[in-house]
Amino acid sequence: MIPPRHFALIPAAGVGARMGADHPKQYLPLAGKAMLLHALETFALHPLVEHSFVVVSAEDGYIDDVLGAQTHLQDKVTVLRHGGQTRHASVLNGLRVIGNQLTDSDWVLVHDAARPGLTGELIDRLVHTLEDDAIGGLLALPIVDTLKRSDAQSRVQETVSRENLWAAQTPQMFRYGLLKHALESATHVTDEASAIEALGHHPKLVEGSPRNFKVTLPHDVALAELHLKGNS
Ligand code: CTP
Ligand code: MG
Repeated sequence: MIPPRHFALIPAAGVGARMGADHPKQYLPLAGKAMLLHALETFALHPLVEHSFVVVSAEDGYIDDVLGAQTHLQDKVTVLRHGGQTRHASVLNGLRVIGNQLTDSDWVLVHDAARPGLTGELIDRLVHTLEDDAIGGLLALPIVDTLKRSDAQSRVQETVSRENLWAAQTPQMFRYGLLKHALESATHVTDEASAIEALGHHPKLVEGSPRNFKVTLPHDVALAELHLKGNS
């Protein structure tokens, strides 16, 4: 039997509304290169990753310029102009388009373009932890803060126990066949794991890193640069 391979799928078809920049946040310059390139290079140069796919919107006017200069990535990366209205739709469209290149048992690592802090070590940890897993899983961080649930006026309604609570990150790694089926069956999910959970499965949580946070708001840019320029 051929051992399962690992592919990266990077949804990058969002507009970055919360960032409020004049172009989508995945193309903002960060520590000398476009945000998207950070994670993309980490995957493309990783020995366990067979190939990487980036899903952008059909009318994306940035990706060709960003990748054009990266000749060392050319054989490692394929751009799919099949972005959808939601992250869920972008990922599912991407999975459908690459269906003729993957088998159902190949692993797919879905990773937000907006998480430039991914490292090769984190990919190693995820892949090695899930090697023999029946379902798959995701990087996540145990919650350390005390959690409050509020009412509409920002008044505390209750303190929520943080015991066994994790904040989900990406990559989220599942087998191609199961993941595609889960996303085709799911409605209103914000990550792949939720779709897998809706089928009754229990994805494995693998410890991620604070540097792998999602760049969302303008003040996140400086923090991301600090991580990328430093060695944390
Ligand atoms: N994404 C996508 N297709 C969409 C929406 C989001 O591929 N229709 C991608 C984004 O490009 C990003 C990842 O999903 O890499 C995580 O989404 P998020 O951080 O919410 O990015 P945006 O949707 O672009 O930002 P915002 O929600 O602030 O508009
Ligand atoms: Mg969004």
